[in-house]
Amino acid sequence: MPESLPVTHFRRVQSTLACDGVPLSAIASQAGTPVYVYSAEAIRGAYRRLDAALQGAPHAIHYALKANSSLAVLRLLRALGSGADANSVGEIDVALRAGFAPADIVFSGVGKTGDELERAVALGVKVINAESPGELDRIDAVARACGVRARVAIRVNPDIDPHSHRHISTGLRESQFGVPIELVRPLFRDVAGRAGLTPVGVHAHIGSQIMSLDPLGRTASALARLARELRDDGIRLEHVDLGGGLGIAYEQAPAPTAEEYAAAVVPAIRDLGVTLLIEPGRVLVGPAGVLVARVVDVKAGPHGKRFVVLDSGMTELLRPALYAAYHRVEPVAPRPGLSAPCDYVGPLCESSDVVGRDRLASPLEVGDLVAVFDAGAYGSTMASTYNRRPLAPEVLVDDGDWRLVRRRQTIADLVALEV
Ligand SMILES: Cc1ncc(COP(=O)(O)O)c(C=O)c1O
Repeated sequence: MPESLPVTHFRRVQSTLACDGVPLSAIASQAGTPVYVYSAEAIRGAYRRLDAALQGAPHAIHYALKANSSLAVLRLLRALGSGADANSVGEIDVALRAGFAPADIVFSGVGKTGDELERAVALGVKVINAESPGELDRIDAVARACGVRARVAIRVNPDIDPHSHRHISTGLRESQFGVPIELVRPLFRDVAGRAGLTPVGVHAHIGSQIMSLDPLGRTASALARLARELRDDGIRLEHVDLGGGLGIAYEQAPAPTAEEYAAAVVPAIRDLGVTLLIEPGRVLVGPAGVLVARVVDVKAGPHGKRFVVLDSGMTELLRPALYAAYHRVEPVAPRPGLSAPCDYVGPLCESSDVVGRDRLASPLEVGDLVAVFDAGAYGSTMASTYNRRPLAPEVLVDDGDWRLVRRRQTIADLVALEV
């Protein structure tokens, strides 16, 4: 198989789905369901492919913690040389616990509080991606009060449509993110004169689950043009940060490869004399995880369709309810028989609690296991405890073995905060 094609780490071994050779049924019988299962090798493979594809330019990969911030996943990525992209002080603290140094952490986010800015400045993170002139004022004030200069980038809103779901399109003028591109150059001139600020980069993140490379290429060109203009103004940047956004193949349509992504963005940046920084999340961990759930009921629906009720739904995996997102669902050990239409639904009294609508599935019975694919990103991190449902455990498969990397939350954990 050519190096550029994604390798699947979830394959059938004698008809039973396994993660890198470890049967999902064996994990579920010990860890219970629902349970998240991640392949360490899949994460390593995705990171190495992206890193290798970007060799044509000095680059730094800062993994976006929001996609999956389990300590085990973070330690794995750190060991490969990744930096971190944090979107809250909570993510900064988790990154530090995972062993990232402050200088490995970029701090993004549209609504950073005063406390968060104080912590980021005091730690001396690699860069704070500022979202507005007002935020630059606040960073400047915090830094001067600490007697330091904060390293800042300005998040640019390039008004580029990523052609993704509108809830995850963040580079359009009407969205709340960043500074309109035509205002950025004068803002940098102002920043360069501030005692508390050192301008080091420009940043953009136009959206997530991007399947067409043209918007990413145009963003790279827009930021490169800006970096050149700033150089003419005497402001030499260290890096151009393109954010994350690369999509994955949730449905069968092929996603852009790491090599195609690099070909779309590297040429614009390569000769600028700056580092290309990126903040990928989904592409590194999404395909590396499945959510394993158990069938708790099967009942007849309209027009010959079955409702397959799972012990897992929008509390564990919010994406289908939030964005009508598609996740492939397959029985772990299919029973013989004809496939028939079904809706895989969750256990909550919410009509949006549907894991997969209008699917075809082989016969399923109460107690059977199903795997929900591509659940490694924005799965566990978006989970909630709605209906007092404890958070699902997480398992990492590595080197032919598996281990629990987060235990299942208990009701005692849930009420422990209440006074
Ligand atoms: C600022 C920022 N950087 C990086 C990412 C990661 O994006 P993705 O998971 O699509 O690569 C996000 C996600 O929305 C983000 O908001």
